[in-house]
Amino acid sequence: MAIINHILYVSIVCVVVAVNVENGYDLCLPGLHGTNCTLNCSNHCMPKDGLIYCDQKTGSCNHGCIDGAYGVTCNNICPQDCVTPACDRYTGNCVSGCENGRYGDDCSQICSAKCRNRLCRTNRTSGITECIEGCISGYTGTYCNVACSNPRCEVCRSENICDQCKGGYFGDACDQTCSTLIPRCSRCDRKTSDCQQCQQGYFGPRCDKRCDNCTNGLCSIDGSCTGQCSNRNYGRFCDQSCPLNCILFNVDNQPVHCSKEKGFCSLGCKTGFYGNRCEQLCNENCPVPIASQCSPNCPDNTCLQIDGTCSMDCQDNHYGSQCDNMCSSNCKVTLTGETCDRQGQCIQGCKRGFYGQLCTDACPANCKNDGKSSDICDRRYGRCSAGCSPGWFGWKCNSPCYMNCAPVPEGKTPVIDCSKSSNCLFGCLAGWKGDTCDQKQTSRVGIITANHIMIIVALVIVEIARNGCPGSIAYL
Ligand SMILES: *[C@@H]1O[C@H](CO)[C@@H](O)[C@H](O)[C@H]1NC(C)=O
Ligand SMILES: *[C@@H]1O[C@H](CO)[C@@H](O)[C@H](O)[C@H]1NC(C)=O
Ligand SMILES: *[C@@H]1O[C@H](CO)[C@@H](O)[C@H](O)[C@H]1NC(C)=O
Ligand SMILES: *[C@@H]1O[C@H](CO)[C@@H](O)[C@H](O)[C@H]1NC(C)=O
Repeated sequence: MAIINHILYVSIVCVVVAVNVENGYDLCLPGLHGTNCTLNCSNHCMPKDGLIYCDQKTGSCNHGCIDGAYGVTCNNICPQDCVTPACDRYTGNCVSGCENGRYGDDCSQICSAKCRNRLCRTNRTSGITECIEGCISGYTGTYCNVACSNPRCEVCRSENICDQCKGGYFGDACDQTCSTLIPRCSRCDRKTSDCQQCQQGYFGPRCDKRCDNCTNGLCSIDGSCTGQCSNRNYGRFCDQSCPLNCILFNVDNQPVHCSKEKGFCSLGCKTGFYGNRCEQLCNENCPVPIASQCSPNCPDNTCLQIDGTCSMDCQDNHYGSQCDNMCSSNCKVTLTGETCDRQGQCIQGCKRGFYGQLCTDACPANCKNDGKSSDICDRRYGRCSAGCSPGWFGWKCNSPCYMNCAPVPEGKTPVIDCSKSSNCLFGCLAGWKGDTCDQKQTSRVGIITANHIMIIVALVIVEIARNGCPGSIAYL
C-alpha cells in the first residue's frame, strides 16, 4: 500500500515538477523551498496564475513582490510615505516620489518648515534637496536655510540683498512703515510707497473704502473680492444682483449664492424658469407638478435648468423636449387619452387611413377601403392592406390597370380589378397586344429569328442572376 502511495505521490510530484522544470523553476512544489522543500515561500511573493514560486535555495520570489513589499524574499515592508504603495524590489526606495512634506530615498525625512507650504524634493541627479515652492518670509537658498540679514526683509536674493520688504514696510532698508503714510495700509511699494494692499475689509489707494460685499472683507486694493461674495451678488466686485429666479435657499434653508464669475444659478431655478440665469420661461405645456406629491425638499421647478427640457412627460397630447409640439390628430387615442409619445410617435398606431411614424401621411387614394380590414394601408410603408380600388394596381395602387384594353361593350360588366383578374376580356385597342394589352404591336415580328430569341433569353437569365427574381415575382 505504502509503495502504491509512494508511486502515486511521486508521479504527482513528477508532473508538477516536470511543469516547473519546464518553466525554469526548481524541484519543490509551488509555494515551498528548502533542501527538503519544507519551507514556505514568502506570502509577499507576487503569485503567478494563483501560485507562488520561489528559489529552492534562497527562497527568492521568482515573480517579484506584491505591492508594498520588497527584498529578495519580499519580507520587508515598503516605506509608508511613498506616493504609491510599491517600492524598489531591492533597495526599498520609493519609486514615484514622496508624500507632500517628506523627502529622501525612503521618504523618511521631513521637509524644512522654512520651505513654503513645507514642500520639498530631492533631485535624484544632483542629490540636492530643494524647496519646491520657495521659502517662507525672511529666508532664502535652495533649501531656504539662509536667513535674510534684515529682519524686515520678506524676500532676499542672498543673505544681504533684499528684494521685497515684509508687509507694512518700505524704503531701501525696509525701515519705514506704510501705515505712517496711509493708515490701514498693510503693504506698499518699496520705492513709491503707493499702497498695494489694505487691511482686511478696506480698499482704495487711501484704504478708506469698505469692501463689505466680499466675504470676510477679503478684497484687493481695487475692491475686487479675492474670495466669495457676502451677499446675493456676483461679479468681480460682487456688485451685481443674482438673478431673481434662482432658487434662493438650499434644503437646510441656508441662502444660496449664484456663481461668482457669471451669476449662474447654482441650485436651479424657481418653478417655470430655465437657463443658466433662469431667465427663460418654461414652455407653458410643461406640466406643473402637484405640490402635495413633491417632497418638501424638491426644488419645484418643472423643466431642466440647462435647456428647458420638461422634467416630466408632456400633457394634453403634446410632445418634444419642451412639449411644444402637438401630437398628430391622426394618432389613435389610447384608453388613457394619450395619443403620442415624447418623440411624437403614435402610441397605438394611426387612425384608419393614415400611416407613417407620426401618422401624418394619408393612405394612397386608390387603396381599397372595404370597411372590413382594420387598416387601409400598412403603418410603416403605406402599402394598401386590402388591395386596390378597381382600375388600379401596385403596392400603393398608383398604377392604372391596363390602359389599352378595348372598351367594354355596352351591357357587359367591365372586368377592371386587375389585381385579381388579369386579362382584358374584350381585346386590345388598336396597336396593342397581349393578355393585358401592354405590348406594342409591331409589324416586324417576322424578323425575330431564332438567334434573337437566344440572345434575349440569355439577357433575361443574366438579369435574373444579377438581381434575383423580378420584383413582381418576389412580391407575389
Ligand atoms: C532533510 O531531510 C533529511 C532526511 O530526513 C534530514 O537529515 C535533513 O536534516 C533535512 N534537511 C533540512 C534542511 O531540513
Ligand atoms: C507553511 O504554511 C502552511 C499553511 O500556509 C502552515 O500550515 C505551515 O505551518 C507553514 N510552515 C512553515 C514552516 O512556516
Ligand atoms: C536636477 O539636477 C540636475 C543637475 O544638477 C539638473 O540638470 C536638473 O535640471 C535638476 N532637475 C530638476 C527637476 O530640478
Ligand atoms: C455692493 O453691492 C451693492 C448692491 O448690492 C452695490 O450697490 C454696491 O456698489 C457694492 N459695493 C461695492 C463696493 O462694490
